[in-house]
Amino acid sequence: MKVGGRPYRTIWLKAGDERVVQVIDQQRLPHAFEVQDLRTADDMCRAIRDMTVRGAGLIGAAAAFGMYLASLQAHDSGFDDAMTRAGAALQATRPTAANLAWAVARMHAAMAMGRTPEDKRTLARREAQAIADEDALHCQRIGEHGLTLITELARAKHGAPVNILTHCNAGWLAFVDVGSATAPIYAAHDAGVAVHVWVDETRPRNQGASLTAWELAQHGVPHTLIADNAGGHLMQHGLVDLVITGADRVTRQGDVANKIGTYLKALAARDNAVPFYVALPSSTFDFSLRDGVAQIPIEERGAEEVRWISGKTTQGRMESVQICPDATPARNWGFDVTPARLVTQLICERGLCEANEAGILSLFPEQA
Ligand code: MRU
Repeated sequence: MKVGGRPYRTIWLKAGDERVVQVIDQQRLPHAFEVQDLRTADDMCRAIRDMTVRGAGLIGAAAAFGMYLASLQAHDSGFDDAMTRAGAALQATRPTAANLAWAVARMHAAMAMGRTPEDKRTLARREAQAIADEDALHCQRIGEHGLTLITELARAKHGAPVNILTHCNAGWLAFVDVGSATAPIYAAHDAGVAVHVWVDETRPRNQGASLTAWELAQHGVPHTLIADNAGGHLMQHGLVDLVITGADRVTRQGDVANKIGTYLKALAARDNAVPFYVALPSSTFDFSLRDGVAQIPIEERGAEEVRWISGKTTQGRMESVQICPDATPARNWGFDVTPARLVTQLICERGLCEANEAGILSLFPEQA
């Protein structure tokens, strides 16, 4: 997508020095646009852990490029053991998004085809790039399938803007390009279909306020930032035509782990007969799991993210302030699970399907 008129992805190999991976530093957005150089697998682990890069698709691509960096560092003797350790370290950075383990497994499988460490380094670079390219392509396709949905709603509204509510950031910043939940929105906007997006701020890290609002503005998509608790009220008053969220892990039965608060939006949507769609590439499915509430590991992050909030002062300085009494304890779950029964449909790169095993397997029969 474009930033200041120039096309960017969220992750890429540095032009002229392919031993360096470059990423957009998402901790600095929306107040500064900065690119970071990552040179080692440890650099990549740190970037995933501190959320310089975040979002399911991007975490997967970052892990793949992390494996490539590890292959450059690994000595010929003990190469395979070093790669096993690097894969385990990358996989341990964040627990919920399925894309992370998926990408590490795919990198191991690709490198296993090489005979020598040098072959394996070449294969690692090729596979990491393929994972990144595929992520962008799949998001593009999600956009094409979701466009049909939005166009039908626009027709029913006789051209009045279609109001879409989204939670967190499942935009291009959460992937390599285009995004999952935002892909149909960008496709509709680009096709001249009037859309307006309600952007949940998404406490505690505010990815909606800082990232989704920023990227929609870069693309010229009309949007309004709302407090996390406003969605139900808007739905009761007919101000939301549909909800589209992303996903961090989806079970074979269609249960959806996504940013904390998603479940409450789904409940409000059901109570108000507002369709609730979840957009995801196939790399986000975990076909080994059935019951999301019981089986999906939910990341718990530091309490300081709840107790403190950061932003820009009127003098333009970045600052953090504490928002509760000094001794107040806090807990910070990063994700929740929306049961499949609350999901209207899933939007995947192969099309739309019901959020149940039969629906999902109709698109992905090879997983039966
Ligand atoms: O904690 P994050 O920012 O990595 O969480 C990911 C998200 O932004 C959301 O849960 C998103 O909707 C799914 S990621 C495509």
